[in-house]
Amino acid sequence: MRTRVLIRARRPEDLDGCVAMLGDTHRADGYPTRWPADPARWLRPPGPVLGSWVAVDSGAVGSLLGHVTLVAADEEIAGRAWLRHAGPAAARPAGISRLFVSPVARSRGVGTLLLDAACAQAGRHGLLPVLDVLDRDRAAVLFYLRYGFRQIDAVPMELNGVQETARCLALRT
Ligand SMILES: CC(C)(COP(=O)(O)OP(=O)(O)OC[C@H]1O[C@@H](n2cnc3c(N)ncnc32)[C@H](O)[C@@H]1OP(=O)(O)O)[C@@H](O)C(=O)NCCC(=O)NCCS
Repeated sequence: MRTRVLIRARRPEDLDGCVAMLGDTHRADGYPTRWPADPARWLRPPGPVLGSWVAVDSGAVGSLLGHVTLVAADEEIAGRAWLRHAGPAAARPAGISRLFVSPVARSRGVGTLLLDAACAQAGRHGLLPVLDVLDRDRAAVLFYLRYGFRQIDAVPMELNGVQETARCLALRT
């Protein structure tokens, strides 16, 4: 059954609740891999931000369910992979970033609605949604593939002394 979910632009007063939800996600899923020194700042990534949204339970005032940010991605790992893959004539990339859903609100379509909002904003800017996801984050990989992303590259990287693979995905056009 789908929760009644409202997607709206993130407001400054949402940040504390988003940090708390991010803490729950980190403990449940190990995302983000490294807990940031300043999590509120981590939720505002560097570079041009094209929008940040939260999912809110419309039946419980102020109850946050999830978060996503869209950034210009020419200099991001997935954006660079897209430009290598598609060539200079292709649409410029926009990066899906900081996407997480509260562990208590999973599998109710919240993540899909957040992706819808970010992808629609990319479309309004004439940009193609891309993202990178660690191969070991299986739920997220399956979620993105199910949504319609496809893999364009796989990049080895070392995180916390562990060899990992970042899958670079782009929305199927
Ligand atoms: C990935 C994540 C955002 C998905 O959010 P969600 O609200 O549970 O996703 P949805 O309910 O919209 O799921 C849509 C589809 O994705 C797939 N999916 C979602 N979670 C899945 C899981 N754990 N295993 C397999 N498939 C999954 C399913 O096909 C699902 O459709 P269905 O419910 O009809 O089967 C959430 O699991 C999460 O926050 N994970 C931790 C943070 C993270 O890894 N973020 C991504 C960083 S790159």
